Amino acid sequence: MRTVRILCLGDIVGRPGRQVVHQKLPGLVRERGVDLVVANAENIAGGSGITTNLFNKLRAYGVDVVTLGDHLYRRADIIPTMQNSERIVRPANLARAAAGRPFTVVTTNSGVPVAVFCLLGRIYMNTPSDDPFAAAGWVLEQMPDHVRCCVCDMHAEASSEKVAMGHWLDGRCSVVFGTHTHVPTADARVLAGGTAYISDVGMCGPYDSVLGRRKDRVLKHMTTNMPFPFEVATGDVRLCGVLAEVDAETGRAVSVERIEVLGGNADQAYDADDARNGVGGD
Ligand SMILES: [Fe+2]
Ligand SMILES: [Fe+2]
Repeated sequence: MRTVRILCLGDIVGRPGRQVVHQKLPGLVRERGVDLVVANAENIAGGSGITTNLFNKLRAYGVDVVTLGDHLYRRADIIPTMQNSERIVRPANLARAAAGRPFTVVTTNSGVPVAVFCLLGRIYMNTPSDDPFAAAGWVLEQMPDHVRCCVCDMHAEASSEKVAMGHWLDGRCSVVFGTHTHVPTADARVLAGGTAYISDVGMCGPYDSVLGRRKDRVLKHMTTNMPFPFEVATGDVRLCGVLAEVDAETGRAVSVERIEVLGGNADQAYDADDARNGVGGD
């Protein structure tokens, strides 16, 4: 059986997230024989949005396709790249006229075509979007027959909506991986129809934080309701994702496993001085 190994990374948060991808991804790709890397990078620019410069850096580190989420247009700088590059996709359930492509098909070095798309959930999400289930069906209808492998990033808050999407796409997508909550879940498995599924892969970023932001600032806000800037945190940086092995002929997943790689400062507690000096921003 000819297989492709697809690595899917969760939201890359700020400079710490970018650095851990830079440090750890090339070795991971080499050691695990990864054929394709998909990464959600909606938080890479200082915690919100992405720029063309940062997109190019991720490509140089070995990311093949970038997916996005609710923060996709936070930096307008990325919009021409979203229109021109086949290596970045916007959520497929936005308005037809929204900049960027709703899906892409790229070919691995081993010659296997793989489709990639992402979706926005609608439960507890602030960005208005169309029905993600219908949008996923539409994307799959557009796929040429020879494309058997397909990856979907389900960017959503509610685990119910993500699990439902996993079942909706079971047997039609090779991998459905959840993003947006920045917290990894323990439910990675291959569903009955052959879809590798996880509710959330977690973020690539600083875990000694609240979802990647300085915990002291978030706590001040949550305990007073007063505004405080939520700078990107710096401590306990990790790279998180899933690695799925997929039958290249049928597109069915053979296995899936969670990946969690500790960054160079994984044992370092939250460093307020670094954050104050802007190390956390990007
Ligand atoms: Fe995110
Ligand atoms: Fe998000």
